[in-house]
Amino acid sequence: MSESFLTLKNLTKEFQVGTFFSKVKILAIQDVTLELERKPTVFTLVGESGSGKTTLANFLLRVLKPTEGSITFLGKNIESYKKFEFMKLVQPIFQNPYETFNPLKKVETYFCSVIKKLRITSENGHSFEKVIEKALSSVALTWEEVKDKYPNEFSGGQLQRLSIARALMVNPMLLVADEPVSMLDASLRVFVLNLFRKLKEEKQLYIIYITHDLATAYYISDYIGVMLRGSLVEVGPAEKVLLNPLHPYTVLLKESVPNPDEIKKKQEVRIKEERILEIEEFLEQGCKFALRCPYVQEICKKEMPQDVIVEGVAVKCWLYSKKKKEGFDM
Ligand SMILES: Nc1ncnc2c1ncn2[C@@H]1O[C@H](COP(=O)(O)OP(=O)(O)OP(=O)(O)O)[C@@H](O)[C@H]1O
Ligand SMILES: [Mg+2]
Repeated sequence: MSESFLTLKNLTKEFQVGTFFSKVKILAIQDVTLELERKPTVFTLVGESGSGKTTLANFLLRVLKPTEGSITFLGKNIESYKKFEFMKLVQPIFQNPYETFNPLKKVETYFCSVIKKLRITSENGHSFEKVIEKALSSVALTWEEVKDKYPNEFSGGQLQRLSIARALMVNPMLLVADEPVSMLDASLRVFVLNLFRKLKEEKQLYIIYITHDLATAYYISDYIGVMLRGSLVEVGPAEKVLLNPLHPYTVLLKESVPNPDEIKKKQEVRIKEERILEIEEFLEQGCKFALRCPYVQEICKKEMPQDVIVEGVAVKCWLYSKKKKEGFDM
């Protein structure tokens, strides 16, 4: 058996949400367990807004600590890595390339600071420029195009490619990309997604790609994990999960494939009713989809289902569980 690459064990995160006067505790992540194998992969986390995708990504980047549970990376607890050692293994790609770069600093300063901070030594005594050039070439940019320029001289797509190049300078094993294309124009999204696919193969990378958008998920993913109010409710090979979804929530996501531009607007102005439903669902004792599920049974409201494996896909739904009510008609 190959060595486990990344193991998430019983991860839980508690947050207090609500107004100053009425606060409630929610489990933004609830008992997430996942084992990922060491091979070039795009693993996509999909789910509605507020399902816990970013919280999970922040655990992987050590930006947040889980309330309970542990993460093992290459056989070691991630907390036991030294800061720079960890940065050389795991790199983030953020959603908004415009925020990644300070408008007052030349873009190259970001590359130079990585070289200095992480003491990247150039192969065969090449200059810093050569090291940067190499990173840029993986994202189809050249030093000539970048030298002496400020962020406002680049398009959003180019800036995102620059932030990918910067992440690649340290030859990481894992990229965690949280909505990396949602701020880009449609024409640039495909370019950047193709780049992820290419880099996965060429650099033998493991990429955790986070998105709302099932169409892009289908396009680049090897595996999919579907998140619902803090839980992974369906995990399996991308084709199986997206072409033949088992969980009624995955079916709903697939049927209401949202347009990424609508999502962008929605994220800016979260609708109040949606936020209320979100918190109600977080507080559900059983399956978090019980309030909206067309197949809801009594047991769904009372008890959280455990994973059931159906033809290589892990699904948490009473429809597939042995404990499902006798005579229930699917
Ligand atoms: N620092 C925090 N303090 C309190 N609540 C938080 C905090 N961070 C996240 N949450 C809550 O945890 C839940 C999950 O949030 P998270 O940002 O992980 O979701 P998401 O799936 O990334 O959503 P989106 O698609 O909108 O980015 C939400 O209800 C959110 O309001
Ligand atoms: Mg998020």
